[in-house]
Amino acid sequence: MCGIFAYLNHLVPATREKILEILINGLQRLEYKGYDSAGLALEEFDGDKKGSIKIIKQVGKVSDLATQAKASLDLGQSFVSHVGLAHTRWATHGQPSICNAHPQRSDTENEFVIVHNGTITNYKDIKAFLIQRDYKFESETDTEVVVKLIKFMYDTHENKKPAFSEIIELTVAQLEGAFAIVVISKHYPGELVATSRGSPLIVGVKSKSKLNADHFPVLNSKDMAAFFRGSYRRKDEGLQYHPIGPQKEIEYFFTSDPSCVIEYTNQVIYLEENDIASVQGGVLDIHRGSRSLDDESTYREVCTLKMELEQIMKGNYSSFLQKEIFEQPESVVNTMRGRVNFDTKEVVLGGLKEHIREIRRCRRLLFIAAGTSYHSAIATRQVLEELTELPVMVELSSDFMDRKMPVFRDDVVFFISQSGETADTLQALRYCKQRGSLIVGITNEVGSSISRESVCGVHLNAGPEMGVASTKTYTSNIISLVMFALVMCDDRYSMRQRRNEIIEGLRVLPDQIRTVLALDEKMSCIAEKLHTKKSVLVMARGYNYATCLEGALKFKELTNIHSEGILGGELKHGPLALIDQAMPVLMVCMRDKVFPKSINALEQVKARKGEPILLCTEGDTETQSLVNSYIEVPQTIDCLQSLLTVIPLQMLSLHMARLRNLDTDRPRHLLKTYTS
Ligand code: F6R
Repeated sequence: MCGIFAYLNHLVPATREKILEILINGLQRLEYKGYDSAGLALEEFDGDKKGSIKIIKQVGKVSDLATQAKASLDLGQSFVSHVGLAHTRWATHGQPSICNAHPQRSDTENEFVIVHNGTITNYKDIKAFLIQRDYKFESETDTEVVVKLIKFMYDTHENKKPAFSEIIELTVAQLEGAFAIVVISKHYPGELVATSRGSPLIVGVKSKSKLNADHFPVLNSKDMAAFFRGSYRRKDEGLQYHPIGPQKEIEYFFTSDPSCVIEYTNQVIYLEENDIASVQGGVLDIHRGSRSLDDESTYREVCTLKMELEQIMKGNYSSFLQKEIFEQPESVVNTMRGRVNFDTKEVVLGGLKEHIREIRRCRRLLFIAAGTSYHSAIATRQVLEELTELPVMVELSSDFMDRKMPVFRDDVVFFISQSGETADTLQALRYCKQRGSLIVGITNEVGSSISRESVCGVHLNAGPEMGVASTKTYTSNIISLVMFALVMCDDRYSMRQRRNEIIEGLRVLPDQIRTVLALDEKMSCIAEKLHTKKSVLVMARGYNYATCLEGALKFKELTNIHSEGILGGELKHGPLALIDQAMPVLMVCMRDKVFPKSINALEQVKARKGEPILLCTEGDTETQSLVNSYIEVPQTIDCLQSLLTVIPLQMLSLHMARLRNLDTDRPRHLLKTYTS
C-alpha cells in the first residue's frame, strides 16, 4: 500500500534540515507497509521570502532518498513556515521508477504538487480529455492525471481564481475510484488541501494551546460558501465557528497511518468519506465535498490516539515479526482486558452490547475476511456454531464479491480485518450494508474504514502490528470471536459448564503461550533441517485445521517455500500422492475429539515412508513414540487449542526465513494493507 505523510507548520521557525528530518521520519514509519519508491516535496516561507516547491524522488529505500535530499538541499537555511509532502509508493499503474514515484506535479514549474494513495478508475478517460487540451504527461500514473486535472480546473477560472479547496473539490468530483490525496500549490503559498474517498486519511494537530474544540465542526458545501462570503450563521445560538489553528504557531500532520504522528501529537481527526480538509494561514477547515450524501453540517471528533511510541519501535528484538510473536502473552490479555471477568465468569463486549439481542434473533451469521483474518474465522467456526446455535458461514472477501452471494436483512455479517482497510473486505461490507444486514467489524485499527462503517464491533486492542505477516492479530481475532460466542450463550443454563471451561482456558492462556514461546530454540533446530526444502505440508483436522492453513500461509509468505495446509480428512482424496521420504510434513495430533482420526492420518503418512514432525500434547509419550521428531504443546480446551498450535509454526517460519536471508518484516511482493 502507498503511504502518505504531509507536514505543515505555521510560524514555527526551523531549519530545512529539521523539516527534512520530520518528513523522512514520517516515511520511515510508513516503511513497514511496503513500498518500492519514495519521494518528497518541500515549500518554505519567511514573510515575503518564499521558496519554490522542490521535489526529490528515489526508487528503493527511504534512506537513499534521505541521502539524496541532504546532498541536494542547503540544509542550514531557516524559514518560519513550511509545507512538506512525503510518500512511499507501491507500484500499481506503471513500474517503480523516479518518474512514476510521488509526489507528482502538474507541470515543470511545479504549480500543483500531489501525493496520492488509492486507484483512480476513470483516469484513462480524464487523461484522454487532458491530452486533447495539450497537457503533457511525464509518468504512467493515475496520480499525474489528478494533478493535471487540478491545474486544468485552475486554468479554466481565468479571472477570479477560486479558493484552493474549491479547486480540489471541483477536481475530485470528476474522479471515480478510491483515493486519499494531499495537494500543495505555488499559487496558494502556505496552504494545503487534503481529501479522501475510500482510503484513510487522518489529521494530527500539535499546538501549544489546547485545541479549541473537542468536536470539530464540519460545514457542508452550501454553508462553506456562506462562510467565505461572511454570511454564515450557525443555527444553534451561542455556538460559533471555531476552526482549529489560532494565528500563532501550530503544526499539522496529514497521514494515512497513525504511527507517523504519534511521536509529535496524539490529537487527531479522522477524515470521513468526501471530507475536504484545508489549511490556510495556519487555520484548519473541514467541509463536506460535493459528492457527500449527507448534506448536513456535522462534527468530527478530535480523538486522542492511544498508541505509544514504544509500540512501534522494535526494542531489543531483531524484527517486528519476532517482537509481535513474542508479545502474544500480553496482546491476548489486552484483547480480553475489561471484557472477561474470570471471577464472575462474565463476558462483556461493550461494542456489541446494544445489539446482542438482535444478533441472537438473526437468520445466520456470516464471517467475511481475507488471508490470516479469514483463517481466524475458520478457527472459531465450530465453537460459534456450537455456542450460538446459528448457521455460520465463513467467506473469503474476494470470492464473496465475485459470487455476489445473496444476503438478507436478518443476516448478521462480521467483517474481520486487522487493518480495517482491505479493499475486498470493505467492498463486501458495503454490499451487505446496502442489503440491510447488520454489520459488525472486528479490527485492530480504531478509526479505520471498516470500524467506521460498521454498526457495531470489537477492537482487538492488540497494539500496532508492524510486521507485514500477521501474527498477534491472528490470535487476538480468535479470542475476540470466542468472546463473542461466550456472550451469545450467556443466557443459556445448559451451556454454563462449557462456558466456564472455556473462560478458565482463557485465564491460563497467557501462561500457556509463554510455555510455547519457550520452544523457540527447538523451532530454530527444526528450521535448520527444513529451510532448504522446496515444499512443506502441514496437516491437521478439527479445530487445528485453521493452524495448518495459517501455518502454510506463514511458510509461503515468510520463507517463499511452497506450503499447503491439508485437512486430515482429505488426505486420501489426493494429497497422499505427495507423500514420500523426501516430503517434509508437519502434523498436528493433539489429544482432542479427533485424535483417533489424526493418528489414522499419521499412520497413512508413515505407511508411505513419510517422516512427519508432530505437534502433540505435552507429556503424550505414547504418540511421541510413533515418530522421530515432535514438538510438545500444552493441552487446553478444544476451541482454544489452535491458539497454541499456531505459535510454533509462526516461530518456525521466522527462523526459516532468517536462515534463507529473507527480510522477515517485509516479505517480497507483499503489502501490509491492500486498499485496492
Ligand atoms: C498474512 C496476512 C494477510 C492478511 C490479509 C488481510 O500474514 O497478513 O493474509 O491477513 O491481507 O488483511 P486484513 O486483516 O488487514 O484485512
